[in-house]
Amino acid sequence: MHGIIFSLFNKFVRENYGQVMTTRISRISGMGYKFHDARKSYPDEEFTALLDTACQELEQPRDELLERFGYYITPTLLEEHASLINENWSCIDFLERVDPIIHGAMRKPEIGASPPTLIADRVSENELTIEYRSGRSMDAMGVGIIKAVGKHYGHAVNVEELDAEEGRKVLKVTLTSV
Ligand code: HEM
Repeated sequence: MHGIIFSLFNKFVRENYGQVMTTRISRISGMGYKFHDARKSYPDEEFTALLDTACQELEQPRDELLERFGYYITPTLLEEHASLINENWSCIDFLERVDPIIHGAMRKPEIGASPPTLIADRVSENELTIEYRSGRSMDAMGVGIIKAVGKHYGHAVNVEELDAEEGRKVLKVTLTSV
């Protein structure tokens, strides 16, 4: 997992639960004071250890914490990658282009991230399906990001799971207020 995500996760826990809890989760997960550079990638197991420990210590189900985390990080992701986002795009335009343009940029060697594949299929002006593919099974984080992207564009968003199997999930995204 990329250092960007470690650094945002650390900030998420610190801002919501305080420094003492952040240090505690880091210690119990075996990460101690390890610094994750936001320009490098680290083994997925390190993020899983932090996430699992956070779920245990904060008494939160994994998907719930991941969704909240995704929602929390979105304004930062949008702000820091504004140069990749065309200001004329609608919410659906944006979601359609995350994989080829935004995650695509993250996959370039100078960043070196390996974000999930998101295959978008526009159903109508207010609806699209997104097929999530990743061995990390962190689609709940994607649900949080999608809801926050909706808020950014002034929409309420409904996300429904259409289909699921190991490493793959199909989500139907509907903008409920336009
Ligand atoms: C400005 C927008 C976005 C940026 C800059 C961004 C960037 C990233 C980066 C850097 C990672 C880490 C990958 C790695 O560690 O190798 C990531 C992971 C992820 N992204 Fe995005 N992303 C954006 C939007 C979205 C959207 C709209 C979704 C919605 C489905 C999404 C879903 C995910 C998920 C679920 C992961 C977790 C890793 C996984 O499941 O394999 N992202 N993203």
